[in-house]
Amino acid sequence: MIFRPQTGLWSRSEADGTAGMKCYLDYNATTPLAGPVRDAMLACMDGLPGNPSSTHQFGRMRRAMIDAAREQVAQLVGAQPSQVIFTSGGTEANNLALHAVTAGQAAGRVAVSSVEHPSVLETAQHLADTGWQIDLLGVDTQCRVTEEALQQHITMDTRLVSVMMANNETGAIQNIASIAEYAHKAGAVMHTDAVQAVGRLAVNFADSGAQLMSLSSHKIYGPQGIGALVFDKALELTPLLYGGGQERGYRAGTENVAGIVGFGVAAELALQQQVSDYERLRDLREVLEAGLARYPQITVFAQQADRLPNTVQLAVRGIDGETLLMQLDRAGIAVSSGSACSSGKNEPSHVLLAMGVEPAVARGAIRISLGRETTRQDIDAVLNQIGQQLQWIQKAGQAAGW
Ligand SMILES: Cc1ncc(COP(=O)(O)O)c(C=O)c1O
Repeated sequence: MIFRPQTGLWSRSEADGTAGMKCYLDYNATTPLAGPVRDAMLACMDGLPGNPSSTHQFGRMRRAMIDAAREQVAQLVGAQPSQVIFTSGGTEANNLALHAVTAGQAAGRVAVSSVEHPSVLETAQHLADTGWQIDLLGVDTQCRVTEEALQQHITMDTRLVSVMMANNETGAIQNIASIAEYAHKAGAVMHTDAVQAVGRLAVNFADSGAQLMSLSSHKIYGPQGIGALVFDKALELTPLLYGGGQERGYRAGTENVAGIVGFGVAAELALQQQVSDYERLRDLREVLEAGLARYPQITVFAQQADRLPNTVQLAVRGIDGETLLMQLDRAGIAVSSGSACSSGKNEPSHVLLAMGVEPAVARGAIRISLGRETTRQDIDAVLNQIGQQLQWIQKAGQAAGW
C-alpha cells in the first residue's frame, strides 16, 4: 500500500465552514507555506530532472535554481550569495556554527546564553563533553543577556560566543551588536541564531556584528527541512559533513533543490513584506495583550523587553499550561506550551527558569504566536476561550469553597 499523507491547502473558507475552526496561533513553531513558495517548489519538482553537480544542461539548470535562491536568501540579510551555506534547517546551521569554529582547535571556552534553543545548548553540552568549558550567559527577568554576564564570562580564552537574536518563547530581542563587541574585543567569533528574527525584523548580517548567522526557512513561510548558515569569509570553517564537495565543501550532499528554491522565494517575500507584516502583527498583539490585561491572573513574560511583534508568552495562575493548551485545542485554537521542540515533556521552560520565573508559574506558560494569516477574529477567539477557562476555574473554586 502506498501511504498518502492527507493533503489540502491551509486556507480559511466561509463556504466550507472552516473559517472559525482553523485558528492557528503557533507561527513560532512553524509557518504555513506561502502560495508563491508552493508554486515555485511544484514547478521545480515537476520540472526536468538533474543533479546540480552534473555538468550537462539538466544539471546546470538545477544549479541555476540554487544560485538564484542563494541570491534571494543572501539579500534577505544583506549578505553576499557566497556567504550562504544551505543546511537542512536551523538545527543543522546551529550545530555547524558551533562545530565549525571549535573542531580541531585546542579546547578553550565557549559562551552561550542560558535561553538558547536546544540545538545550541545541546551542541554546547557536547563540546563540554569533549573538554571545552561552557559559560552560560545569564539573562535578566526580561530575557535579556546581562552586562554582568558578558563582563564575567567573555574572557581572552573565549573562542566563540553564541547568543540568539530573538527568543523563540518570549520573543525577547537581544542586543547582538553590543554582545558582538564583547566577543570581538576578546578575539572570539560571534554567532547568532537568527531563526526567529529573520523575516520578522530587519536583519543585516554585516551590521549585526555576528560572523555566523543561522536561518531557517519554515519560520518565514518556506518549506521545512531547509535553512542556512551565513558566514564571514575571513573565518576558516570545519564542515560537519564530508563527501561530494557541495556548498563549496562546507556541506556535502546532493542539494535539496526544491527546498532551496522554496526558501529563496520565501526569503524574497519576507524582504518585501517585513515592514507591513511587522506593523500588522504588532497591532494585533497589542489588541491581544490589552485583552489579557483585563485578567489579573495572567502574567505576560518579558513584556518590558523589545520583542518580536508576533509573540506573547503568558501564564494563567491556577491553570497548567498543558491543560490550557488542550482546552484551546478542543476549541480549534492551536498554541504552544514552551518551545515546540520541548513540548510534550512536562518540564518547565528553561527560558522562563533562566529569567527567574518560579517553576510552578513557568509550568503554566503558553505561547501565542501570530502570523500572516492571523485575523482580529482569531485574537477575539483566543481571548474568549481564555476568559471562559478563567470563569470555569472561578466557578469550580466557589463550588469547592476555595
Ligand atoms: C530559535 C530557534 N533556533 C533553531 C530552531 C531550529 O530550526 P529548525 O526547525 O529549522 O531545525 C528553532 C525552531 O524552532 C528555533 O526556534
